[in-house]
Amino acid sequence: MSAAAWWRDGVIYQVYPRSFQDSNGDGIGDLPGVIRRLDYFQWLGVDAVWLSPITVSPDADFGYDVADYCNVQPAFGTLADIDRLVREADQRGIKVVLDIVPNHTSDRHPWFIEARSGRAARHRDWYVWADPKADGGYPNNWLSPFGGPTWTLDERSGQYYLHNFLPQQPDLNWWNPEVKDAFDAIYRFWFDRGIAGFRIDVAHGIVKDLHLRDNPVATDEDPPHVRAHGQRNIYNMERPEVHDVLRHWRTLADGYDPRRILLGETYVLDVRTMGRFYGAGDELHLAFNFTYVHAPFKASVLAEVVAESELVIPDVGWPVWTVSNHDVSRVMSRWCQGDERKLRTALLSLLALRGTPVLYYGDEIGMPDNLVRQEDLQDPLGKRHWPAPRGRDPERTPMQWRNVNGGGFTNAGLKPWLPIGDTARNVEDQQADPGSTLNFVRDLIALRRASPDLQSSQYRQLKSPPNAWAWQRGAATVAAVNLSGRRLRIPEVAGRILISTTRSRAGERLADGLTLGAWEGAICFSASTSAPVR
Ligand code: GLC
Ligand code: CA
Repeated sequence: MSAAAWWRDGVIYQVYPRSFQDSNGDGIGDLPGVIRRLDYFQWLGVDAVWLSPITVSPDADFGYDVADYCNVQPAFGTLADIDRLVREADQRGIKVVLDIVPNHTSDRHPWFIEARSGRAARHRDWYVWADPKADGGYPNNWLSPFGGPTWTLDERSGQYYLHNFLPQQPDLNWWNPEVKDAFDAIYRFWFDRGIAGFRIDVAHGIVKDLHLRDNPVATDEDPPHVRAHGQRNIYNMERPEVHDVLRHWRTLADGYDPRRILLGETYVLDVRTMGRFYGAGDELHLAFNFTYVHAPFKASVLAEVVAESELVIPDVGWPVWTVSNHDVSRVMSRWCQGDERKLRTALLSLLALRGTPVLYYGDEIGMPDNLVRQEDLQDPLGKRHWPAPRGRDPERTPMQWRNVNGGGFTNAGLKPWLPIGDTARNVEDQQADPGSTLNFVRDLIALRRASPDLQSSQYRQLKSPPNAWAWQRGAATVAAVNLSGRRLRIPEVAGRILISTTRSRAGERLADGLTLGAWEGAICFSASTSAPVR
């Protein structure tokens, strides 16, 4: 594939900058820290690093409330650090992808501060304002996924402003062409600095209903997450006009040579809606698949999500898979209950599906959720909803580099911004151990890189017993996982094992199908296989 399509063949690694590597002993990860770990990315074999927001933020939502889109958060470093990161990453063949937050700004952003100054303010219409109902109540029934109404009264002007997330995150008005122009300039600012692309926050939700209509109340017919929320978010998010904006950005990104990628946080929980964000190959390059993330760890369900995704993603599109991120419980806890065998089957699947894998920092060493005590909470959701449901701190704790005080993340003795988990599980020890999960992931990435089948060939599900999931990639590669505690056999796989989760079976010749032990998985070279089920 051409160099312009690195993002199709490659592996993307997500860094949560506050928690990756502290370089100056303030307990907060930073850009010089990320630069220091470039050798690690190279050793692991990833092609790109996506950094959660590094722009200026009062940190009401840790970077996802932006007060200046074209400057670096001082705790993280400077623009010169970003330039150096891009340069030094490039020397290693690694791309840098940033996060952009176009749905809302911080309430401390100069645009909003000015907009609040009065109804005639220059930036007033950059945000979404509405008069109270006759009884003084909220303009409509919209509820935030963070809990509570999406409206806060601005006392001075007597109008409410919209915030789909925290009150400190006022939503921008994407019907206003000036907002569009302002974001074009932001994209260009970073693209011109050599940024390879963006992960777009809330990519499905930036446009709101022009008439601010009430959301329909959930009914028994709705899926559980909608019922739990109480309403269908069809007017405060997911408006059809969002596709016009995405097409516009795609044109902007494609105007660069080499082209830049747009990876959307399309937080919709049905794959059909997700598939629409690829447009006709003229919208997002990659649209995150949250149905997969939130599926139970069951072979039949995962296979079904993948099959449906394969159907709905247009031929001009390309899937993207992930199993963890900074908003959900880590895969080691969510799917695997701390069981390393399960984790390896999950990671093998991630790296062997058709589509770009996005690996969340720490998953490669099997970091679990680290429970954070109430007094150590940082995440606004964790604080708001304590003691339940859980906030997002547990999946955001510092990277565990070494088994020392501070975990190799920050100086010994210093209190990091979030507590560090059990550093018995760490990069240094796992690098030295050929049987570790870290070396397993590294070998999977290397195998994928060497295999056109795994990188780019078709996905075809194979017939397999219950609790197993097997698929063929291209002409001669089969991946299979046993998601059960019982030994089982996948018939008609002939050939040779290339890598197994147990590490002991590489090279084994298969004469009579592939037998997998409890929670075992393998990738095989296999010329003859059973008929596909679909
Ligand atoms: C996205 C981010 C999440 C953030 C929210 C509001 O979902 O991933 O961390 O809280 O947007 O910006
Ligand atoms: Ca620091």
